[in-house]
Amino acid sequence: MSDKRPLNVVSLFSGVGGFELGLQAAGHETLQFWELMPEAQACLRKHFRASTVEVDGDITRTGFSTALPSRFDVLTAGFPCQDLSQAGRTEGISGARSGLILHVLDVLEQRPLNARPSWLLLENVAFMRHIGGGHAMKIVLGRLTQLGYRWAYRQVDSNAFGLPQRRKRIYFAACQPAAGDPRSVLFADDSARPDRVMAPGWIDGTACGFYWTEGNRGLGWGYDLVPAFKVGSSLQLPSPPAILHPAESIVTPTISDAEALQGFERGWTAPAEGVHRDRQGRWRWHLVGNAVSVPVSTWLGHRISSRRKPLAHLLETARPLPADSKWPAAAYRMGADEDVMSVEASDWPATSATLEELGLRRQTLAGLLGDLPDGKRRPRLSYRATKGFRVRFERSSLLKRNSPELRAALLEALRAHEVDMSAS
Ligand SMILES: C[S@@+](CC[C@H](N)C(=O)[O-])C[C@H]1O[C@@H](n2cnc3c(N)ncnc32)[C@H](O)[C@@H]1O
Repeated sequence: MSDKRPLNVVSLFSGVGGFELGLQAAGHETLQFWELMPEAQACLRKHFRASTVEVDGDITRTGFSTALPSRFDVLTAGFPCQDLSQAGRTEGISGARSGLILHVLDVLEQRPLNARPSWLLLENVAFMRHIGGGHAMKIVLGRLTQLGYRWAYRQVDSNAFGLPQRRKRIYFAACQPAAGDPRSVLFADDSARPDRVMAPGWIDGTACGFYWTEGNRGLGWGYDLVPAFKVGSSLQLPSPPAILHPAESIVTPTISDAEALQGFERGWTAPAEGVHRDRQGRWRWHLVGNAVSVPVSTWLGHRISSRRKPLAHLLETARPLPADSKWPAAAYRMGADEDVMSVEASDWPATSATLEELGLRRQTLAGLLGDLPDGKRRPRLSYRATKGFRVRFERSSLLKRNSPELRAALLEALRAHEVDMSAS
């Protein structure tokens, strides 16, 4: 059964609208955005121009609840992750920023049942499952059940939806019982994650990404992909990964590459530069690094409408989750009287047929990067950065046992780049 009626969306913690752009591609319309940062608001105002769209600010302001439309179908919230991420301050769900989701759920609770959205779509970092022994998950999911929502969640890698970026995030779908089944959104697709390739791809024309800031304990190695962008606190400069490019030696992506790697059109965050704090374009990295990958949201938007049955082979793996167990990579709960069920679902939902159905395509990293306009070149990784990384990597035992050929080829490429950069 399919319900192709466009759904009305209210977006909280909108950022630059990754969630909403994906939902729009699936035919749904966002009525209202709530976002604090003026840089992000400038992007929303530029790109979501329909006359009905409102862009408002702080969700903690008095009157937030009454400013929400009296009826709407979907509430999106890629809520702040600073207190839940490995790199953050890890204060957990009681932290001032990540705890804002509890404020949202309190506001929903105060509204009459028919004024609450039928669907909630939430997103956060994968580390949320582990922080505080799973406390954040327990609190948020417990509140959803208390509010009468059925819920499901699944860890998903954006790479599965055709983007050459490894980015694992948890997506939550919750709905009122009359609205359907959240398992039909998250568990109607499944595929096997392809094996990881540990080869010097750049020699044969495949671009490969890695974290040049690491090299002691990890590399973030990506064959035909970049590892996820790391965004530190709002005051830190972003450190994009490096790319061994078959035609351009060792480079770092531009901000417009970063936008494309998240599924936005190039230049999506340019309106932020008109805002006084972003004259250097620094905040654009922050906005892109925090965003929901657009094609993953397109998938969620299609599945909310398409009302597919969840896949039988996934439901067959469902087992009651014993109290105080670790939170698995996927789970659901169909009501307060039902168990929490863990599900063995991969973080790679999309088959090629799924991509085709959603109008998405798998992009290679070299293909996505393409040529920069006006014959411009990407910034090359500096001599100092290359040498620093090479020395750390050389001292480490990374790849020594499992991929000695890649290790040797990478060291050779780094040394050649160092020579090149020292001469330029
Ligand atoms: C993880 S980002 C969301 C990114 C967004 N989903 C996207 O695709 O771009 C969280 C956002 O919440 C915003 N935010 C934080 N506190 C807020 C508040 N009190 N009211 C409204 N927005 C807030 C931040 O400025 C940030 O842009």
